[in-house]
Amino acid sequence: MHITVYSTRPYDRAALSAAAQGTPHQWTFLDVRLDTSTVATAAGADAVCVFVNDQLPREVLQALHALGVRLVVLRCAGFNQVDLAAAAELGMAVARVPEYSPYAVAEHTLALVLTLNRKIHRAYARVREGNFALDGLLGFDLHGRTIGVVGTGRIGETFCRLMTGFGCTLLAADPQPNPDCVALGVLYVPLPELLARSDVVSLNCPLTPQTHHLIDAAAFAGMKRGAMLVNTSRGAVVDTRAAIEALKSGQLGALGLDVYEEEGDLFFRDLSGAAIQDDVFARLLTFPNVVVTGHQAFFTEDALAAIARTTLDNISSFAATGQPRHPVSVERVV
Ligand code: NAI
Repeated sequence: MHITVYSTRPYDRAALSAAAQGTPHQWTFLDVRLDTSTVATAAGADAVCVFVNDQLPREVLQALHALGVRLVVLRCAGFNQVDLAAAAELGMAVARVPEYSPYAVAEHTLALVLTLNRKIHRAYARVREGNFALDGLLGFDLHGRTIGVVGTGRIGETFCRLMTGFGCTLLAADPQPNPDCVALGVLYVPLPELLARSDVVSLNCPLTPQTHHLIDAAAFAGMKRGAMLVNTSRGAVVDTRAAIEALKSGQLGALGLDVYEEEGDLFFRDLSGAAIQDDVFARLLTFPNVVVTGHQAFFTEDALAAIARTTLDNISSFAATGQPRHPVSVERVV
């Protein structure tokens, strides 16, 4: 098969090339994002391989279909960027990497919690300036605190296990409780109760129509005053403008983001010499109690290798049987 790969960075190319050794597939690596303006570059491809910020609404899928593309392989777990109903109507297969390393994302979530709690981002800068004062760096023991986990699938469960090791009390909200979490001692409660009781809230659910702006102004108002929110799921699960208001009032005590609802125009590229055009994002960066990472929670050696292996598996399975190994079906979004 001929696969055109979008949003390619050097590390993607290296991992996919290593996994593809010995297979008959041909690859075209492009660094552009797949969207309506770039879709013509898929000419000649049987499959497109895309990442989190490529955009595949109906019109892009129709254009891909007209070019002869029959398979969309996502090299990520989330699939909110694809119009699955349109893909099904067109008879196009969509595949994803359902699981690669829940540890990568759960451990990064923990890194954000620890950084924000112990103010490591501020301490790092201070010490380099020769400022060894501790004022403003006060944290709290995680031991004995209550952690609320919204979404206890693979990543949420792994994060629960890590926090259990710290001696935390764990609450969770999920329409499908995970028996392994129950066995771990996690207590499932309605989301408003989780928000009201938790010192730290971690978002680990997918972005769906039901979870879009799940954490909005009302949700912030219902949180424990001064609590921490960490989002390593998808940006639009949080209403960023409401988060800014909650930070300004002190209702939200700290915010850790690995994802941002408008990240498509920002993340995965070097904009250090450019003016940030997104004023909402720029405002976020002014708060001392906000830490943003650029969608790097997945970014470990182990995860990249696993993503490449599963992507190849999806492609080879489709080439052999007409079905990818890990299809995403339209039922998953309803
Ligand atoms: P998963 O499919 O194993 O688990 C998701 C869980 O969320 C399920 O238990 C589901 O029932 C639950 N859920 C669905 N709707 C919910 C709602 N309204 N409220 C609470 N829970 C709800 O997915 P996994 O592998 O744990 O990944 C979770 C999300 O993390 C992905 O969908 C993706 O968006 C994000 N992610 C982020 C990465 C990063 O680099 N920042 C990397 C990988 C995934």
